[in-house]
Amino acid sequence: MTTTEISTLHEEVRALAAEREAVILAHNYQVPEVQDVADFVGDSLGLSREAAATDAEAIVFCGVHFMAETASILAPEKTVLIPDLDAGCSLAASITADQLRAWKAEHPGAVVVSYVNTTAEVKAESDYCCTSGNAKSVIEAIPEDREILFLPDLFLGVWLERTTGRKLKIWMGECHVHAGIRPADIERWQEEAPDAELLVHPECGCASQCMAFGNERTHILSTEGMINFAKSSPKERFLVATETGIIHRLNKEAPEKRFEAISEKAICKYMKMITLEKLRDSLRDWKHVVKVEPELAARARGAIDRMVAIT
Ligand code: 13P
Ligand code: SF4
Repeated sequence: MTTTEISTLHEEVRALAAEREAVILAHNYQVPEVQDVADFVGDSLGLSREAAATDAEAIVFCGVHFMAETASILAPEKTVLIPDLDAGCSLAASITADQLRAWKAEHPGAVVVSYVNTTAEVKAESDYCCTSGNAKSVIEAIPEDREILFLPDLFLGVWLERTTGRKLKIWMGECHVHAGIRPADIERWQEEAPDAELLVHPECGCASQCMAFGNERTHILSTEGMINFAKSSPKERFLVATETGIIHRLNKEAPEKRFEAISEKAICKYMKMITLEKLRDSLRDWKHVVKVEPELAARARGAIDRMVAIT
């Protein structure tokens, strides 16, 4: 798309958003031209907070389906739109509510902690929700003598075990994008960029290995945590192990610094399904509405509220 086409679409989107009294929320992995027209860009936790606090009539969620569902749970009186209904998440798809019910039946009395990358049905079966930004605090708030079922991300679960010292029962799910970032990618970069800080998302297949480096230039962070860290760090060069969409946001927030993706292949095809044209169509044609039914939303909300009460 040319810059002229992008600015024409930006104007159209902004005019429609004003007319419809809609707020545009975008995840850090969205394509640059969508990030640039959004009212707020952030991580799962930040976007949930914005959805809960907004006084707009509608929320257009430029992200994946579970994020739009979470917005609907937190703002049940608002219309929540997603520009492409097929924008799913391989991690959220790795456990169903039936599978979780069966797992709970095997561990009666266990506390269930679900990562935010889950469907509303799975959240409704959970005691606590958590995001990569607050998972450690949620685990630490649960009494030591309680068994914990953590789902669905295997690598985040292992990282939590290491950082909290708690033994968890962990579901064997993974995000195909982050699982694909392997220890060899990190090792190569450690050698090639000895002056750079390494920013790693805890969903990465290499996260626990990175912890084993135990050096001061390795930092395991949520996407927003990476941005805050890079902004406040006195260092100038950063290697980034997560979906590559975040590089645009990092360059915008800290233009004087240098950011490089550890793996150029780390692209989430679901996040990239949201385009500027689809965002425009979504506002113009009022589609696609994501609505979590009230009874289900109330049960899922319990897990989210317990998370918010802790963090
Ligand atoms: P964050 O909450 O860190 O933005 O992560 C969301 C996600 O989907 C990671 O793949
Ligand atoms: Fe889901 Fe992975 Fe895409 Fe994040 S990057 S939305 S966890 S598939």
